Amino acid sequence: MSRPLVVLGVTGGIAAYKSADLIRRLKDQEFDVQVVATKSALKFVGETTFAALSGNPVISDIWDQSHNVEHVQLAKKADAIVVAPATADFLAHLVYGFANDALLATLLVAKCPVVLAPAMHTEMWENSATRENVATLRRRGFLVLEPAVGQLTGADQGVGRLPETNEIARVVKQVVNRNSTNLPNDLSGLNVLISAGGTREALDPIRFIGNRASGKQGVALALTALSRGAKVTLVAANLNVSVPAGVEFVAANTAAEMLEQMKLRAGSADIVIMNAAVADYFIPNPETAKIKKTSDNLTIELSKTADILSLLSASKPVKQYLVGFAAETTDSDDELVSLAKNKLQSKKADLIVGNRVSSTLGINSDENQVIMVSKDEAISLAKSDKLVLADAIWDFIVKDMTKVGQVRKSPVEPDLA
Ligand code: CTP
Repeated sequence: MSRPLVVLGVTGGIAAYKSADLIRRLKDQEFDVQVVATKSALKFVGETTFAALSGNPVISDIWDQSHNVEHVQLAKKADAIVVAPATADFLAHLVYGFANDALLATLLVAKCPVVLAPAMHTEMWENSATRENVATLRRRGFLVLEPAVGQLTGADQGVGRLPETNEIARVVKQVVNRNSTNLPNDLSGLNVLISAGGTREALDPIRFIGNRASGKQGVALALTALSRGAKVTLVAANLNVSVPAGVEFVAANTAAEMLEQMKLRAGSADIVIMNAAVADYFIPNPETAKIKKTSDNLTIELSKTADILSLLSASKPVKQYLVGFAAETTDSDDELVSLAKNKLQSKKADLIVGNRVSSTLGINSDENQVIMVSKDEAISLAKSDKLVLADAIWDFIVKDMTKVGQVRKSPVEPDLA
């Protein structure tokens, strides 16, 4: 069986040198890669580099191979197109439907998912023309990643860096895996807020009480929401996995920090998912110096943490859709449903995802087994990869929020007026 084909569009920015590495990362994900480079991109990186790494001749001139109408053939064959880096100039051309080079012409024909990874100077990224172009492209179903923050071309620092190449490759894999000709854009225009990971409560300056949550399920929910068009914020505690490019990341490592960060952001979210394993107890007065091994027994007094999910539901905007998880060690489906139902009622959520946990399943593993419990339904999902489950959970949320009338759309882009 042939491998899926990813077209890598490269436009003329300094980050074009990273596109060479992106070819490698896409090949690691078992894709065939065809590079389509603009003339300006080839001023930064030579054609030979792209051709040698991809194993395919670079397409850069719309007049080459004109007897084959190459841009049409390629657009039809591609399983996904990723443009990295995408310059401000290129985004503007795309918005207006220009087709005066091989990459733009290919994109105008393409019906497959398209991922755009912009990279440019901070001022260009923040310019209202670029903001409006990005908003337009997102509305049309393009998956536009947020640039990373860090060093830019010269000595300047700020937002505008190309996201890490392995992160871009993961996003591409996710959109191809959905096996759909178009990007499912059913979360477009929605602000999604997700908590993930496991909080840690300090005992002294070097020790903590924590749990084994890795954040994999929350990150999978963030990645799939992003690929379905949402603007995603991840409030995360002690992740073992990296945050997908394009997701806004907020660190919150203790239960108190998580409460504060979630409260700050929940008001403007359309969907909130409390996936984090939040400590139920904390140490109100942790030692300021390392606890010494002087006594045979040690008693530590713990106090209950605030229940974030309950607090968010008490102050939630009327049409916000609120989701919690219920991590349970039971083996019985019936008991899992009944424990999830109790949490649905006591925490007043719209959906509780009952999550079977053991030392090998759920927590800190790639697989999970869940039952989704809402007011009217209990749907059991077979044990699967967390990315597959994340997509199924979004399918349920999208359907259920319409059914229960909890559709609240906030504008994804900031009001620039
Ligand atoms: N949760 C929360 N704040 C806490 C504890 C839990 O918001 N202090 C949230 C979790 O993120 C999850 C849901 O509540 O969405 C259920 O968490 P879980 O650990 O399963 O249950 P608890 O509420 O902690 O109750 P118990 O430990 O008694 O099962």
